[in-house]
Amino acid sequence: MTLDHLPRFPLASLPTPVHPLERLSLLLGGPLVLVKRDDLTGLALGGNKTRKLEFLIGDALAGGADTVITAGATQSNHCRQTAAAAARAGLQCHLVLGGSPPEAPTGNLLLDGLLGASVHWAGPDRRGETMTDVAVELRGRGRKVYVIPYGGSNEVGATGYVVAMGEFCRQMAEREQTVDLIVFATSSGGTQAGLVVGARAFGFSGQILGISVDKVERGAPTYERELTALAAATSERIGLGARHGEDDFWVDYDYVGDGYGILMERERDAIGLMARTEGMLLDPVYTGKAMGALMDMIRRGLIGPSKTVLFWHTGGGPALFAYAEGLTGGITRHNGART
Ligand SMILES: Cc1ncc(COP(=O)(O)O)c(C=O)c1O
Repeated sequence: MTLDHLPRFPLASLPTPVHPLERLSLLLGGPLVLVKRDDLTGLALGGNKTRKLEFLIGDALAGGADTVITAGATQSNHCRQTAAAAARAGLQCHLVLGGSPPEAPTGNLLLDGLLGASVHWAGPDRRGETMTDVAVELRGRGRKVYVIPYGGSNEVGATGYVVAMGEFCRQMAEREQTVDLIVFATSSGGTQAGLVVGARAFGFSGQILGISVDKVERGAPTYERELTALAAATSERIGLGARHGEDDFWVDYDYVGDGYGILMERERDAIGLMARTEGMLLDPVYTGKAMGALMDMIRRGLIGPSKTVLFWHTGGGPALFAYAEGLTGGITRHNGART
């Protein structure tokens, strides 16, 4: 299937590489673990949002926007990539961030500033609850505003991960390799919904497992319902028209720990082990949790040694710098406060 008719603004270096994590597989005595490097999508230190933003910025430009707004946590990777994408497209960028201004910006927040974004602080709201107010104000000033939802997760953004699944299936065909299970971090859902729709579109028959990084209050079955609706809308937008049900979505909530952005022992171990054995950086909020979960499942024998599993690396590295204290001993929350 081709998606060439949809507005798209090129931002990512594609295809991202796939390679085995041989030393990790050996160390865990488990299955062959491959990684898909969406941390290397290339735009301002990369990450999964760049794939979504190709379609979101494409849509914004097609509609004549001159300004984009989006929202996220203080250390949002999505916001950093949106700021970079907007810069590349010549659009003004406004970010509505949860928390309050820290004394010294670091990690993604530092980069937001360098990339020219205007930051609006939203206190306890990190999911764009006050984005509409900012949009109204900007429109009142004559700006043509395009609102990108939290995490870029609507049917426009999720299309990026339908395309990603097509790219991955082609890579596996070239390598004459099959993958039994894909594991990755899931939060706003665009990545998972896109991959599931893409699996239907391009014939991937393995399992797709999202590791939730959010508090369980948003957990099953609410999240599965959101994913199903998002998949249906995405499928319709791309003209696939496939039906999806909540059973299509496998989400594990067991690794949320103390909640979003709170670095626990498991993440710290996973980040350290990957760095030491593979020279590969994970992040404290998303990929550290997802890899911690995958390692735990392998150690407990839940994924047998005869399987082939793919870890889809979704990026997030810049947040490491905001968690320096936590990574070297204490616990750091995502807004930088030490507990
Ligand atoms: C590094 C990283 N991984 C995974 C995710 C989750 O992706 P999604 O929001 O599409 O579920 C995010 C979202 O911000 C992210 O920044």
